[in-house]
Amino acid sequence: MLLQQIAQRYTQLFQPPTVLVQAPGRINIIGEHTDYNDGWVMPAAIDKHIYFALGKNDSPTRFEFYSPQFDQRIDFDLNDAVENMSSWAKYLLAAAQELQARGHHIEGVSGVLSGDIPVGAGLSSSAALCCGFLYGLKELFDLAISRKEIAHIGQATEHRIGLNCGLMDQYASLFGVKDSAILLDCKNLETQTIPLQLGEYELYIINSNVKHELAADSGYNERRASCERVVAAAQALDTNIQSLRDVSMDMLEGLADDIVMRDYKRARYVLHENERVLSASKALQEGDLETLGKLLLASHKGMREEYQITVPEIDLLVDLARSNPEILGCRMMGGGFGGCTINIIEKARATRTLGKITAAYQLETGLKAEVYKVQAGDGVRVVSL
Ligand code: GLA
Repeated sequence: MLLQQIAQRYTQLFQPPTVLVQAPGRINIIGEHTDYNDGWVMPAAIDKHIYFALGKNDSPTRFEFYSPQFDQRIDFDLNDAVENMSSWAKYLLAAAQELQARGHHIEGVSGVLSGDIPVGAGLSSSAALCCGFLYGLKELFDLAISRKEIAHIGQATEHRIGLNCGLMDQYASLFGVKDSAILLDCKNLETQTIPLQLGEYELYIINSNVKHELAADSGYNERRASCERVVAAAQALDTNIQSLRDVSMDMLEGLADDIVMRDYKRARYVLHENERVLSASKALQEGDLETLGKLLLASHKGMREEYQITVPEIDLLVDLARSNPEILGCRMMGGGFGGCTINIIEKARATRTLGKITAAYQLETGLKAEVYKVQAGDGVRVVSL
């Protein structure tokens, strides 16, 4: 439906589009803030997307974009400053500039884009925006870039905008596989596809509606800086260490006197979260959903107490959920400071249980939580009507 609308809109505004692209958001089963520490993550692309209708225009550097979702038309020049741009368009400009900086030649583009990924909810709408747009540019200008390179360009785009993120979101959006999770080793970027078979259970996302803009908030980058300080302290003892991935628990204990307690706790969280991702992928493959659920709860505890990236509303959603036996596990998902929780819920009792949780949440916070049932889907691709 959305795809048809944007294609029609594009035709009204410009001419028939040359290419249509869909780019999914992502969920993350487990592995939070481990990606930029060269650790493991287990995300999945979802059945919520940003859709693009794109075509070349006759200008060398002019970009003209319309978003029916925000009812906004934003035109810009490839040489404009990203700092002066607003909202979604700054991602497009930064992505195009990053592409050019890497030696890929592009010219002016017109586009219409729209989607159903909630923004600022931890479902990676910005990764979908960048990766989908870059994929569309690759198609339009016949650029020789792989999905892997698009992921790196998408990450560098976020860095240009101010978020020192890892590669999880871009990988999930580009390499997603229907009905599967992706186990990504962020050190060598090898992926393993793991069927997301949950039997009597389903995944539900609860959006706290506490919105975050990670790039504008220093909390995310501050956590990364903590990890880097611990790595620097470890490197003073062993020059082979490149990231927290190379730091063992024993080594971290040995460093405890050289680093501040806050950094120590954050690093300890990352080391444990890495172990949890590997245990979770094993549990998922063995169909041991009870263990998977417990690992999700432990991940949340770590984010709440050690990494300190949760907010009271999110903790409330987890506390309300975990008291129900039909919920095997749940945790905050994404960069933190708001957004969504991911919940493994027994199918038969899901509607009633979710109703109870959201009602209690509203009573206590005054906020209306939204619930999404998500399916794992395929990564970015060209589509037709
Ligand atoms: C954001 C970042 C990712 C990752 C997560 C936390 O989504 O973009 O790279 O660090 O937060 O796991």
